[in-house]
Amino acid sequence: MAARREKLYPASKIELSPFVARHYDRLLDLFTLGGYARFIRKAIEDLGIEPGDSILDLGCGTGRNAALMMKYLGPAGKITGLDLLPEMKEQFEKRFREERRALFHQQRIDIPFDLGEKYDVAFVSFVLHGFPQQTREVILENIRRHLKPGGRLAILDYDEFRLSERSWLFRWIFRTFECRPALDFIEYDWKEILENFSFRVEGEKFYFREAIRLLTSRLKS
Ligand SMILES: C[S@@+](CC[C@H](N)C(=O)[O-])C[C@H]1O[C@@H](n2cnc3c(N)ncnc32)[C@H](O)[C@@H]1O
Repeated sequence: MAARREKLYPASKIELSPFVARHYDRLLDLFTLGGYARFIRKAIEDLGIEPGDSILDLGCGTGRNAALMMKYLGPAGKITGLDLLPEMKEQFEKRFREERRALFHQQRIDIPFDLGEKYDVAFVSFVLHGFPQQTREVILENIRRHLKPGGRLAILDYDEFRLSERSWLFRWIFRTFECRPALDFIEYDWKEILENFSFRVEGEKFYFREAIRLLTSRLKS
């Protein structure tokens, strides 16, 4: 039987159980009947990655997103994935066994850290909503410290919306499957927060009837 794991943030659902972490990609595809695969391909295309980009993927999971991003990179580009879980390390490293442009660090992103280098792009996908707001700010500070001047930040996560204005089915799914912190994530003005962290918001794209947003910004130099 899979061991239980103590959570850093008990209300969070992004700290996955060993079982869910091991089967994360398959479970997502199954529950969305393949819709997730189409969506994430499009969202990564919308990132506008340039061939020489160095990318920091915070809470990178299995490396599925990194593999999609890799298609846009040339020989000088690279991706560094950070994740807490050993199951993610195993899957990421297996996926990129023969790829020297991808690197994984088993690293908590919710506490200050220093990787000793700066990146062109930071990507954080379905991670921020799972933390308390104070911790989200620590993560934004980590990102700011690891971006080159003019570097880009892309947040792929829930859009801002009022749950009460959504259909009963959406409300039921959100309340049943999402973690408590996600309920306040959707209420914050993320453009204003990013501006306060010295980012200039550059664009937004929406998916799944505006439930999901890709918010892109640039660190002011
Ligand atoms: C919902 S999954 C998203 C994974 C990936 N970004 C994606 O879009 O497929 C959240 C990820 O955040 C990681 N995570 C949760 N808490 C973390 C922490 N404190 N530090 C680093 N990674 C964390 C989990 O291990 C998991 O891989």
